[in-house]
Amino acid sequence: MAESSVAGAHLDDADRVMQPITRLQDRMVIRGGKPLRGRVDVRGAKNLATKAMVAALLADTPSVLRDVPQISDVGVVTRMLDAYGVAVTSPEEGVLVLDPANVERAHFAQIDALAGSSRIPILFCGPLLHRLGEALIPDLGGCRIGDRPIDFHLDALRAFGAVVDKSYEGIRITAPDGLHGANIELPYPSVGATEQVLLSATLASGVTELKNAAIEPEIMDLIAVLQKMGAIITVEPSRTIFIEGVDHLSGYTHRAMFDRNEAASWASAALATGGDIFVAGAKQQELLTFLNVYRKVGGAFDVQEDGIRFWHPGGPLRAVQVETDVHPGFMTDWQQPLIVALTQAEGVSIVHETVYENRFGFTDALIEMGANIVVHKDGIESVTRRVPRRKLEQAAVVTGPTPLHATDMVIPDLRGGFSHIIAALAAEGESRLSNLSLINRGYEHFADKLADLGADFTLED
Ligand code: EPZ
Repeated sequence: MAESSVAGAHLDDADRVMQPITRLQDRMVIRGGKPLRGRVDVRGAKNLATKAMVAALLADTPSVLRDVPQISDVGVVTRMLDAYGVAVTSPEEGVLVLDPANVERAHFAQIDALAGSSRIPILFCGPLLHRLGEALIPDLGGCRIGDRPIDFHLDALRAFGAVVDKSYEGIRITAPDGLHGANIELPYPSVGATEQVLLSATLASGVTELKNAAIEPEIMDLIAVLQKMGAIITVEPSRTIFIEGVDHLSGYTHRAMFDRNEAASWASAALATGGDIFVAGAKQQELLTFLNVYRKVGGAFDVQEDGIRFWHPGGPLRAVQVETDVHPGFMTDWQQPLIVALTQAEGVSIVHETVYENRFGFTDALIEMGANIVVHKDGIESVTRRVPRRKLEQAAVVTGPTPLHATDMVIPDLRGGFSHIIAALAAEGESRLSNLSLINRGYEHFADKLADLGADFTLED
């Protein structure tokens, strides 16, 4: 860990990388009723950048990642890499240089303290087993949106020949004979488990066949990163991925794909507030399903060279039926912000959440604001379903339009939190929001962007 001192404070590399990640005050007072208008710039995807940073551990030379968002999840991964001896520096804003020359063991307690509630430690397993022959995972636990088990991950690692030991501290994984290729079929196309297999199979001896894989754009971008490093990965049409193990991987230079979750969030904010937002950096290909639903609801959009303009064209919004699903379906992370706009649509909308078992908790606050939302904990049978019904699914029935009035809210999780802020911006009156730092996990320079869009708010400690 290289040391330097700026302004008297001893800053190591990780500190300097973290410095631009602005600390978001924990409370916000929003005076609603004003349409959001203007431009926001969306940078690299949280759900790719953090994984590409972990992939750098697999290389024997430094990697350069561009368009890295300044969000606290990047900070968590930076600190974890630092704890494992990876030198992470930032020569300029949005650029990270990751040098894995001196990878070393870290302590359980250290990783536990650094990881906090992040789920990222599970993805360090493959690279650490290759580099150190051991990986330690603190008890990850779930979060508000579901139990979030890691059984698919552990089953995959066992298939590669790893030994998994559970202890009170967490999980210790070793690979006494190294990792070898495996045939793995995922019970569900899990993003995380697919990334686990990709990060573990590239340096394993032999070929791995992964069936029922996730094919999200973030997965494809991670495959692009690994191929730049020297990996051989073939994606078959039928969610089957073949990975031919190689002897070594070198550092990559890569620009992270844009954050389509952030782009979809601002698009829904434009609709719910009756506004007009140009989302610079957004691309159509990765948002096709979202754009279809946006148009069905009555939102307008215009795809341009360097982004997409989203606006409320005036007139009533239309109720819709939405089913969340794995890619290329409607993403589960898009439903919370969109539901705020659906509270203003004429008629009965139904949102079937099929990916997580508990992702409608955020609607409690919307109901308090006057929204008419009924959550069906066991989901709703519906003839016009496209996505196969899952045991864990739930459904929300949203009847509109109902005017929203201000209230006090505690931010529950990242996407639920963004929906609360949109609702406060769309509501009449003054709302008080706390636990705001959660937003910083996935929305870069959040308050600055709101100010640029003309929102009327105050930040408080
Ligand atoms: C990734 O989570 C994203 N997070 C999530 O975004 C996103 O909602 C999710 O993929 C689906 O697209 C990151 O990339 C950091 P999964 P992940 O494994 O990988 C079950 C956001 O707001 N499952 O595809 O954890 C699981 O419980 C976040 O940016 C098992 O049962 O999601 C869930 O029901 C939220 N066992 C389903 O699969 C396992 O071992 C999908 O999970 C793994 C998953």
